[in-house]
Amino acid sequence: MSQATQASGGVDVWVEVNGVERAAAVEPRLLLVHFLREVLGLTATEIGCDSGHCGSCTVLLDGTPVRSCTTFAVQASGRRIMTAEGLSADDSLSPIQQVFWDEHGVDCGFCTPGMILSAYALLQTNPAPTDAEIRRAISGNLCRCMNYAHIVRAIAAAAVKLREEGESSEEGEP
Ligand code: FES
Ligand code: FES
Repeated sequence: MSQATQASGGVDVWVEVNGVERAAAVEPRLLLVHFLREVLGLTATEIGCDSGHCGSCTVLLDGTPVRSCTTFAVQASGRRIMTAEGLSADDSLSPIQQVFWDEHGVDCGFCTPGMILSAYALLQTNPAPTDAEIRRAISGNLCRCMNYAHIVRAIAAAAVKLREEGESSEEGEP
């Protein structure tokens, strides 16, 4: 994919979002969170503090959690973005979303998209995290409902579930 290029109506931005290539001409100072929500219509990414403190706007940029309210859309050009919409290919819950639901990791739900994406990124690189590692991974995501105990338990349970699913798919391989 190309990097951002200046065009007469703004700056052309190309991104791969949840596996789909998207492009648009945007104002150079447009923030990534507004690009996702207002230009691409991906509204699962929440805006909380709008100042880089709460983590509710977290998305994955090339697999790494970033705050989309402090990232310009042009900085994401040519890169791979994952939002909460990308967790599941259809209307069903992905395994990690299901575990958040089962373990009461969702209270009001405002922090949930960013929280789950931070957890998802952790489990991609650390399939068996300790509670301390889980807490460190979500330390940039604030939950105003103070639901941290349930959230940590949900992520630990998701780790177990994903490991079990990985083992059973390996056993099924020829
Ligand atoms: S809305 Fe981005 S960190 Fe709070
Ligand atoms: S569940 Fe309400 S902010 Fe976290």
